[in-house]
Amino acid sequence: MGKKAAILGFGTVGQGIYEGIRSHREYIKNVLGTSIEIVAILIKDPLKDRQIDAGVLVTNKIEDILAIPDLEIVFEAIVGKDPCFSYLKQIIEKGCHVITANKAMFAAYGHELLKLAEKHHVKVKYEATVAGGVPIIGALTNLLQANKIFEIQGILNGTSNYILTEMRKGNNSFDQALKKAQELGYAEADPSSDIEGFDAFYKLNILIHTVTGTNIEWNRIERKGISSITKEQIVIADKLGLRFRHMAYFSNYPNEQPQFWVKPVLIDVNHPFYSIDGVDNTIFVKGSLISGLTFTGPGAGKFATASAMIEDLLQIYHTKDKIKKRKDVSLIQTLNSEKNVNS
Ligand code: HSE
Repeated sequence: MGKKAAILGFGTVGQGIYEGIRSHREYIKNVLGTSIEIVAILIKDPLKDRQIDAGVLVTNKIEDILAIPDLEIVFEAIVGKDPCFSYLKQIIEKGCHVITANKAMFAAYGHELLKLAEKHHVKVKYEATVAGGVPIIGALTNLLQANKIFEIQGILNGTSNYILTEMRKGNNSFDQALKKAQELGYAEADPSSDIEGFDAFYKLNILIHTVTGTNIEWNRIERKGISSITKEQIVIADKLGLRFRHMAYFSNYPNEQPQFWVKPVLIDVNHPFYSIDGVDNTIFVKGSLISGLTFTGPGAGKFATASAMIEDLLQIYHTKDKIKKRKDVSLIQTLNSEKNVNS
């Protein structure tokens, strides 16, 4: 038996992790030197018909998860702050690593969870909380350590960007685009979190905490969503060469008042976000040594989010057990068989 893992929550994200771990079983085993076994899933309604292997414990009781011996990893994909926070505290105290996708919870309690994890010598990873599959947390924490971060601009909500894009292109009305975003698994269970800017607000808070180690009091951060933007405004802006983007902003330059806000803004063709359409997220970072870096990619969706969480998994063992050298067995086999055919 490899390392035992559990998934909390089995909506779009939870299912993405389950399928991603299954489809990458051999690859992960090859990289880590051991397999990851999903042994339990916490589900709201355990009687609902699901595509889950027999042998996996399916339960709606957190106590059942806490009772699993030698459980090492918990993937958390629940919606909302509570009771999730209390579940994760118990999971950490049990000695498990936590990999979360829960933005609302992590924006509120991330600081506490990280401290608790340190005390219990486990890791809490949260790449999936911001910008889906874009590895921005890893970049900010591991790759940009020498830089003091002066500025972050971001499109952090895929649903809002998708709606604004669809309206501008004339493909769909606001309501139709929102409905499509829900069908595609981009929008939150309560889509007001997307269109009123809460989702981007949580993500901005997580980014700020990541680069400063500090929580800004939430009432100091201006928040506005896209729900009041009309088709007419988008058309007029487009004629003037301008586009609406739902932007999250943080700046912390020396000798300047720090700024933090989330709201729709109009940008022109010279702005790097002008051509970022659809569900893509993008983050522009300026540091004390680096003048400007842009990270762009799918900000929402089943496998984009699962990708971030499975990358987190490998990172945990990268520092702990040392990852084995990457070796793509199937590519080597293909190349070898081509060589045999040609010789
Ligand atoms: N509802 C979110 C979005 C999902 O649209 O960006 C990813 O966090």
